[in-house]
Parts: sequence; C-alpha cells; structure tokens
Amino acid sequence: IHKVIIDADPGVDDAAAILMALASPEIEVLGLSIVAGNVSLEHTVANACKLVGLSGRRDVPVHAGASGPLVREQVYGKYARIGSFDDKLVKAGDIVPSDENAVQFIIRSARAAAAEGEQITICAIGPMTNVALALIQHPDVARGIRQIVSMGGAFTALGHRTPWAEFNIYADPHAAEIVFQSGVPIVLMPLDMTFQALFTAEHFEKFRAGGEAGAALYNLFSTFDRSDEKRFGRPGGPIHDATTIAWLICPELFTSREAFVGVQVTGLTMGYTYADFYKKMDRPANATVVTDVDETGFIALLIERIARHGGQ
Ligand code: BDR
Ligand code: CA
Repeated sequence: IHKVIIDADPGVDDAAAILMALASPEIEVLGLSIVAGNVSLEHTVANACKLVGLSGRRDVPVHAGASGPLVREQVYGKYARIGSFDDKLVKAGDIVPSDENAVQFIIRSARAAAAEGEQITICAIGPMTNVALALIQHPDVARGIRQIVSMGGAFTALGHRTPWAEFNIYADPHAAEIVFQSGVPIVLMPLDMTFQALFTAEHFEKFRAGGEAGAALYNLFSTFDRSDEKRFGRPGGPIHDATTIAWLICPELFTSREAFVGVQVTGLTMGYTYADFYKKMDRPANATVVTDVDETGFIALLIERIARHGGQ
C-alpha cells in the first residue's frame, strides 16, 4: 500500500486522478495538498472539497497551500476563466478545508513517516510550489519521502503552454528545479507520454457507471473538451494527471528510462525540461522518466476505478 499525498490544482484531469486514487485500495490517500495552478487557490481548494465530498471520503483532509509561484509572475491554465466547477457539473458539498496549511501538512506527514521508519509518496499534479516550499523550509523532510511522482515536463518541444514548456513546470519552474535537485527520487510523467493515451467521448460515457462521482467526471470532460485532432491526428484527448496514480497501481503499463533532468528557469525557454538520456552531462540520474504508456490498458484501468465509485 502506498501512503500518498496528492498535491494538486483541480482542474479536470486532477479531478480524474483524485477520484481514481480515492477508489483504489493500493493507495492510502493521506490528504490533498492544494496549490494554485489551473485556476486560483480559492477555486482549486473549492474544487478539491467538492471532489472529496462526492467520493464520500470525508476522512481525507483538504489543505490549502501556495497561492502563487515562488519567483515568476503567476500564470493560470487555459480554462482559468471558469473558476471553480459549476454546481451544475459537480454537486456542491459541505466539506471545508483543514486549518493546517498544505506545506505544513507535507512536512508533518513526511516527518511522521520517517519517525516510524516509513516513507510517503507525493503525487504532484500541479505546479510544484507546495512541495518545493516543504523541502526548502525543512530539508530533513526528504528522508520521509520515498518518491515524488510528478506530472510535468515535455522532452520534445511539443508546443503546449509555450513552444517548449508544459504548464505545471512553466507555472513554477523554480519550484520544479528545487524538487528535481532535492535528492528525492523523481518519477516524471511528461507530455511526450501523456499525449499517447487519448480518451474519446465513448470513454467518458463509461465514467457514468461511477455513481455521482463518475457522473460529475463525465460532466466535466464533456464540458471541457481536451481533444485536438490537428495535433494528435485522431479523436480524443489526454487525462495527464491520472497517469501518476496509474503508475502507482500498475507500473507495468509504462516504459521508463533513468536520466538526469533539470529545468530552464529564465528566458524564452523558461519551463523547458531537459533529460540527459545519453549521459552527456556527467551527472547521476535523478529521475525515472516515463516515456511510453499502454494506451488501452491505462484507459481501461481509469474507467474501471471510476466505476468503483458507483458501488459505494
Ligand atoms: C497539466 O496542466 C494542467 O492543465 C493539468 O491539470 C495538468 O496537470 C498538463 O500540462
Ligand atoms: Ca493538474
């Protein structure tokens, strides 16, 4: 069983990842640490509370963290104008965030694990501001973190948020670089891989088997269409963040390579991630870079986990 903090900025694909994790017995979700990203912190926190309420998992705390990046000016996601999820799409619940800040929650959880001779996993599926702050403020917390499984980066210039940068890294490149160089093992799920698994309207339809939570997810993906046929050459869109949860449950769905990775933090290519696959830099590997996914297997796993909400 993985003890996991999900550090997120929900976000429609964050919603899929969170609901997937909450339905998976292989994962004990210690709590959600929330950061600004796709939308402002006020809205990402409200969305996280709605998701926890929908899943019926009132035991899972929601912690509000950083409201903006460490150094650069703030940027939001493509759908920033939507704010929090509309009540018509995702039912409003009565869950409220914890009084404890997300950074403090990460520090406390990692230290508690280390004191027991254990380690937690962090699934970082938004800008990595909260995680970087925890590691800067108290470097000893690294001892309590087994791995940081991060959705972020692009190793070919895929033209996502900028010609070079993926959104989570671009939104806080300094935080990402701190996390990558922290010494904690990193597992990276870049766009090069997440773009390989495309969900179509037929797949979204299947989310509806998952009770209220599945219906909400269906509503979100039906409203915020991620397909881009010009880019992908076929119908469907990625659900980036859920790959982090799938990797914990079923790593055999993925192929990966070890590499030294880093981030450009300034200039035109700010947010660009590089991976030294061919050992040109004389630096030891700090990351497992996930390069390929079994599309059919991943899609089936996500659909099957969301459907489990229907049985609750
Ligand atoms: C990432 O950026 C956000 O839009 C998504 O939630 C995902 O975490 C993809 O680049
Ligand atoms: Ca996200």
